[in-house]
Amino acid sequence: MIQAALEEFRRRRFGMFIHWGLYAAAGGHWRGQSIGDYIGEWLQARLRIPNRDYATLADSFNPTGFSADDWVRKARDAGMHYIVFTAKHHDGFAMYHSAYSAFNIVDGTPFGRDPLAELAAACRKYDVKLGIYYSHALDWSEPNGADPGDSSKNLHGVSWGNDWDFPDRSRKDFAAYFRQKALFQVRELLTRYGDVFLLWFDCPLCVTPEQSRELRDLVHGLQPSCLINSRIGNQCCDYYSLGDNQLLVAKEKTAFESPGTLNDTWGYKSDDHNWKTPRTIIGQLLALAENDCNYLLNVGPKPDGTFPAATDALLAALHQWFQENGDGVHDSCGTPFPQELPSVLCTRQGTTINCFLRQNAASVRISGLLAKVRQANVPFVQEDDELHLDCSQLHGDYPRVTLQFTETPRVRPELIPQDGTLTLKPAAAQICQHSGEERGRAGTAAGHSVVDVDGTTRAQPTQARIERGRLLAWHDPDCVIRWQLHFPGAGRYALSCRTEAPGHSAPWVGGRELEISVGGQRIRKELQADVAADTRYYATAESLLGEVAIAAAGPVELSLRTTKTTAPGAAAMAFIYLKLTIIPQ
Ligand code: GLC
Repeated sequence: MIQAALEEFRRRRFGMFIHWGLYAAAGGHWRGQSIGDYIGEWLQARLRIPNRDYATLADSFNPTGFSADDWVRKARDAGMHYIVFTAKHHDGFAMYHSAYSAFNIVDGTPFGRDPLAELAAACRKYDVKLGIYYSHALDWSEPNGADPGDSSKNLHGVSWGNDWDFPDRSRKDFAAYFRQKALFQVRELLTRYGDVFLLWFDCPLCVTPEQSRELRDLVHGLQPSCLINSRIGNQCCDYYSLGDNQLLVAKEKTAFESPGTLNDTWGYKSDDHNWKTPRTIIGQLLALAENDCNYLLNVGPKPDGTFPAATDALLAALHQWFQENGDGVHDSCGTPFPQELPSVLCTRQGTTINCFLRQNAASVRISGLLAKVRQANVPFVQEDDELHLDCSQLHGDYPRVTLQFTETPRVRPELIPQDGTLTLKPAAAQICQHSGEERGRAGTAAGHSVVDVDGTTRAQPTQARIERGRLLAWHDPDCVIRWQLHFPGAGRYALSCRTEAPGHSAPWVGGRELEISVGGQRIRKELQADVAADTRYYATAESLLGEVAIAAAGPVELSLRTTKTTAPGAAAMAFIYLKLTIIPQ
């Protein structure tokens, strides 16, 4: 059952996250105060608004512009084949008709309608699957909602639990809340709205392994094919949610989904105008699809029930993009190539490879195809394993080239430069773990765990390990990462390396020296942020390492290790890739 549901999940690939609740009515402002650059749905905790005051938002909540039909049709047109709607967020207000308490949209507002029921009907009409977000641990409206205490304020110094209305932690009984409210409401959600595609839990603070298991068994007992995301806690999931706005950088063996914002908030904020462009969104969708990862892109509807104009414009741009380029995203699997290609992003659908141009170039070269292209939508020439595409007639963002074959196309498994570039990721490497002996030179990444922005606790591994496509705990000088490369001829290559800070909103600290050995040459270099990268969510940096010469065509081994770490926190940085770029002579 779950296997079939996971297949369906992959086929649907792109979903619409919808954060809508009382916080939308405040739009980031409350009685003259603003939440600044904080996320909108955290308004109550950020400003420590007492429950009796926060509840007054319900008195005037009357989103008469809400049309489930409109929302779901727009999602479908924009290529989003499932939705995930916030039935209850951390504020505890039910955006559906709950029998548990009157603190719900039907009994507690002048609006009096059940948006979840209306969305469920619209989903059936448009063949969009219904997913439900439910905050199973944090519930600020309840005296017993999760409260991990002062010691673990979230990353921005905001309390996780409600310690403004209910300061006495010793009287909090999380198990009582969990049993009496969370399990009860999850049962409601799974018994009143028809088939639920997935349940999206969040921030599993205070949740014990037994509680995660009990919740999972309840979900699967009521709807055996309903998928569960990893933020249920304690690994009781069917698939993994990445961190907020985190991308999967290489394929993984299990199913993954990346939740992303359109601006810098989930719930509506009247003054957040930092909208991502259609080009950025399409690029992220394709970069995720290339790694077989779903994208759950958020919209934060306004208090009147309509989408912000910028959201509508983005959805319209996606609609147009799918119409112009056809559908190379849904029901696809990731790239067949063993490495990232510099000029295109790839997906495969059966015997077709889709190549989406990263930049509009008149001609594009792809190496390593072992099968003959039977047909393509652009003129092409194929000689041995080199394919030359004439893309001069393609325009717009990430236009699609379709390459059709008579059977599933094979590609060369070796890591060979593509258009003079070779991107080496940990998944394609042989990683020799540390020998056991601590040299005391490299610092340590282990020994502590971090509570991430989504409330999940991540322990730093003690041994090198690939997680979410990144390599962690590669700080020991005995940990050697080796790739077997294949060069088509002699040439000089520039080396660069991409690394990432260990958590959401954490700074990239540098303070790490690497050694690269290839073809008898050795380079030692301290990592620097030479090429500015995006630091908004998970800070990454691109460091230039130097040049190497490849003497002749044929196989070469390249190895990489850390020689020392000098800054506190440097050992915890994640390795994403090493890149070789040919230097034109
Ligand atoms: C975070 C936030 C939450 C938001 C979620 C989306 O965990 O706490 O407000 O709903 O991310 O992924």
